[in-house]
Amino acid sequence: MARGRFITFEGGEGTGKSTQVGRLVERLSATGLEVVRTREPGGSPGAEAIRDLVVSGTADRWSPRTELLLMYASRSDHLERTIRPALEAGSWVVCDRFANSSRAYQGAGGGAAADLIETLDREIVGGDQPDLTLVFDLPVEVGLERALGRGAAETRFESKGLEFHRRLRDGFATIAMRYPERCRLIDATGTPDEVADRVWAAVQPVLP
Ligand code: TMP
Repeated sequence: MARGRFITFEGGEGTGKSTQVGRLVERLSATGLEVVRTREPGGSPGAEAIRDLVVSGTADRWSPRTELLLMYASRSDHLERTIRPALEAGSWVVCDRFANSSRAYQGAGGGAAADLIETLDREIVGGDQPDLTLVFDLPVEVGLERALGRGAAETRFESKGLEFHRRLRDGFATIAMRYPERCRLIDATGTPDEVADRVWAAVQPVLP
């Protein structure tokens, strides 16, 4: 049984990533592939319990360093219980956010030390790095307006202020340049159909 492929979606708030995760899962499934849709933080019962801790409450509830440890605790459980078993069974895994979100939110945005992030990543993710990471890019004001307009309960990160979100956008772009072999920057402006076509074009190289 050939190992499945691992595709992750990344980007700031309100970039339309989650809609496009759904579109890609449908399109891949239609080609006959077995596809598992998942998300971070979360994606396994233990990791979802950690998600509840990190996405709600006041903006300063956790320091960026504590947040980073919680994100990697949730990622460890998610990899053990969901991602690795699915890839080993030959399924493709499409994940809404993964480690680049820790590098951007806790690192570039929050100021957590890069060497701590990379040490955790080596230990926890190791060789199970994504085959492809699609990084959604959108002007910060547009994304935040969309995200806050949703009126969701999980607003802890949205409430961190415009400067934080500007550092995030730059952070995501810089991280994508640091891993050019797997990261593709996706222009997230335009209609959902236009963005879905850009995503599909970016996925072609990893298709069987
Ligand atoms: P979501 O709204 O895309 O589901 O993500 C929940 C929040 O978690 C989002 O505001 C970004 C944040 N997050 C981090 O700060 N670090 C991480 O490593 C991950 C995966 C998410």
